[in-house]
Amino acid sequence: MVTMTSSDRRRFLASLGSAGAALATASWLDVIGYAQGARTAARAVIQQPRVRADFDRRVLGAFLEHLGRAVYTGVYQPGSKLADAKGFRTDVAREVKEMAVPITRYPGGNFVSGYNWLDGVGPSQQRPTVLERAWNSLETNQFGTNEFVDWCRMVGTEPLLGMNFGTGTAEMAVAYVEYCNLERGTKWSDLRQSHGYEKPHNVRYWCLGNEMDGPWQIGQMQAREYGRKARDAARQMRVIDNNLQLIACGSSGTFMPQYLIWDREVLEECYDQVDGLSLHAYYGNTQALTRESTARYLAMNLDMDRQIHEVAAVCDYVQGMRRSSKRLWLSFDEWNVWYRARSGDAVNGRRQFAPKLLEEVYNLEDALLVGGFVNTLLRNSDRVKVGCIAQLINVIAPLVTNDTGVLRQSTFFPYSWALRYARGRILDLRVESDTYPITAAGLQADFARNDQVPFVDVVATLDGQNGQACVLMLNRDLDAERELVLEWRDVTPTRVLVCETLTGTDLKAFNTFEQPRRVVPQRLDPPAAGARMTFKLPARSYTVAQLATM
Ligand code: AHR
Repeated sequence: MVTMTSSDRRRFLASLGSAGAALATASWLDVIGYAQGARTAARAVIQQPRVRADFDRRVLGAFLEHLGRAVYTGVYQPGSKLADAKGFRTDVAREVKEMAVPITRYPGGNFVSGYNWLDGVGPSQQRPTVLERAWNSLETNQFGTNEFVDWCRMVGTEPLLGMNFGTGTAEMAVAYVEYCNLERGTKWSDLRQSHGYEKPHNVRYWCLGNEMDGPWQIGQMQAREYGRKARDAARQMRVIDNNLQLIACGSSGTFMPQYLIWDREVLEECYDQVDGLSLHAYYGNTQALTRESTARYLAMNLDMDRQIHEVAAVCDYVQGMRRSSKRLWLSFDEWNVWYRARSGDAVNGRRQFAPKLLEEVYNLEDALLVGGFVNTLLRNSDRVKVGCIAQLINVIAPLVTNDTGVLRQSTFFPYSWALRYARGRILDLRVESDTYPITAAGLQADFARNDQVPFVDVVATLDGQNGQACVLMLNRDLDAERELVLEWRDVTPTRVLVCETLTGTDLKAFNTFEQPRRVVPQRLDPPAAGARMTFKLPARSYTVAQLATM
């Protein structure tokens, strides 16, 4: 990572000034590379040696919970004409494989805190049907750890397994690692072999519980109590496999009364034994969060930026206090828009099997914000090493199934663009953009800000192998096209390979099985490739450009 010295910064500001910009430092946005400029065109300076991070694609992972129709009728539906011999939905598998989702978190979520992993392994006819208490649903256990790992191998995603720290003991969490990762010759590894899995699964990434601070969580704990259990379990797990990447539960969200305090206390107990800390956040265009203002809503990815910086600061504080040489990374392993299907029947399975839960229907404005989240995750990928859109199928998801096929919701497009085109290294952009104000009045405390929001949000990657660049651009201006001038230094685009945008006049438009193309990308006329490229970003849009530079 290349950092900017104060003289660099002065030179940069001066260069913007010479271009006719009136500048002010845009509050904390400066930290993420934004300067405020009172000019019509936004400007981003791209310098090849200025790199934020090597891009670990795991930051664009997904989440699959035993919840509603995510597993059953989502990825797994034996008997369906769309299923293969193992019961996996081939249409869903094709979509996930094509997206190339790098890592998938499973089996929960709130579900995991009451889950006995032993119920989900072994001969399927001997597996019990249980009453699942997080979502009040019937769980048949016909899909379990081994089916999940098989599915992961089939679609080319890496498993990220969650452990039960609610009703589960440290002993059973450790046994789970032994079952999955030890070759043979012990109680739990032999059990796996007897289940037909000769070779270990070698699962590297593990979550030590889920949202253990939440009063809604089965087995909710106090921070220090959880931190000690995590430390004890992690230490034992490392005896079994010293190649593990272990993620401790951070605060469930910025709305929690103990936000950051929980993180500090947990890490004070288990810092030395863990590698990452989890963050979760769900957003919505509601009275409490945005006053139902789309302008405020489309700025919410900046709240995600802020959360990342705050939680990272706590990690670094504990690192300093412990005089540790180890720097923790962050796992933003649940993020998405979720506010409509969030209460009543949408969260209560009423003891049904595969009930319809959390089936959020996503519109255009949600998709634009998801584009913003993607930008935030990419520009923070020096610190955020794992990220999971929550979730992948049917449950608050970009993909939805019925008996005849799979539908791409609006949010599918920004997420899959990043998966497809972002490669190599995240460039450390310096962006100048005109801004609009947002105000705190009347909003929930963690979203109550008086601030200036850049109209244009942009990130870029550059793949050193093939010289291809990817630029992802959000135009938050609801009324007008915005120009974005990309100034390339040290590297010059030679060809525009792809230029597509997601936009429309109706921000509330959404796709259905009957009308699957109401919100889909369209081709955007790109500028000629060169050292200075002016993109004309439509009002209310998210745009991807893939450029050749060799
Ligand atoms: O993703 C839905 C739920 O949201 C998860 O089960 C839980 O971890 C979070 O509160």
